[in-house]
Amino acid sequence: MTAAFVDQATTLRSLAASQRRATVIAVTSGKGGVGKSNISVNLAIKLAESGQRVALLDADLGLANTDVLCNVDLNWNLSHVISRKRELKDVMQEVPGGFFLIGGASGLAKMAELTDMDRQRVVDAMGELESQFDVILIDTGAGISANVLAFTRAADHVLIVTTPEPTAITDAYAVAKVIVRDGQDRKMSLLVNQAQSADEGRAVYERISRVARQFLGVGLFDAGFVYADTNVPMAVRKRTPFVLSAPRCAATQCINQLADRLQTDRPARGSGETGGFFVRMSRWLKI
Ligand SMILES: Nc1ncnc2c1ncn2[C@@H]1O[C@H](COP(=O)(O)OP(=O)(O)OP(=O)(O)O)[C@@H](O)[C@H]1O
Ligand SMILES: [Mg+2]
Repeated sequence: MTAAFVDQATTLRSLAASQRRATVIAVTSGKGGVGKSNISVNLAIKLAESGQRVALLDADLGLANTDVLCNVDLNWNLSHVISRKRELKDVMQEVPGGFFLIGGASGLAKMAELTDMDRQRVVDAMGELESQFDVILIDTGAGISANVLAFTRAADHVLIVTTPEPTAITDAYAVAKVIVRDGQDRKMSLLVNQAQSADEGRAVYERISRVARQFLGVGLFDAGFVYADTNVPMAVRKRTPFVLSAPRCAATQCINQLADRLQTDRPARGSGETGGFFVRMSRWLKI
């Protein structure tokens, strides 16, 4: 092989790698307080530990708090991007755990409902980050608002978080329904947080997925479960994500499993394969 040919092949490979688009995962729920932000932050850390370039966008525009969970003070956040004071890339900050956080706009009531143009601006700005990261997680906040729908539309995959509580289950189904009715052809998966046992996690998944198949005609992937674990609220109080403060606890092991499976199905960096992260995930996410 000539030196020129090797150079050209290397250039093509690095070009393919640089153009590869991040997989965007929206973490959402119907009911509030089910654990979206904790799952997002801790999953971001585990994916980053495994060598992925990870960004977490806190898109909970009324009650953003991932900065509190990560114990960082952010000078700038999404509100500054929307008001055009800052670019998205200038707002993100590397946080302990090795991922980049883009803070939400907590406490700004007017941010809770954006105009279509504002929303488009955030989504466009996200597009600019896609070549810099392997995974972009979006913590959308709870409920079924226009903002949440805009972020699920911008995602490749929607991870719906529920707990085993009947109210959370009903609301998780309602979110899936609204996404389907919105005409979004998104892959959706269900993660059962705060499960008392693997059996409980599985039963909740089966219940929701059965109803979704029957009444919405869609399959929900099984993203597994996370144990109810007292280390989680303890970590929140310490303002240290539980995968860092309690690396061997039951909840951490569940996040490890989720991250490992995502990692396993990711193509090797520079392989030239684009997108399709969760297409491959369908091999392990049971439907
Ligand atoms: N696996 C778990 N085990 C025990 N407690 C948990 C678990 N996951 C979350 N919690 C508790 O639930 C609380 C709410 O979690 P979190 O803030 O992540 O939820 P959220 O869905 O982001 O809420 P919101 O809808 O308000 O944004 C946390 O303070 C934590 O103490
Ligand atoms: Mg939250």
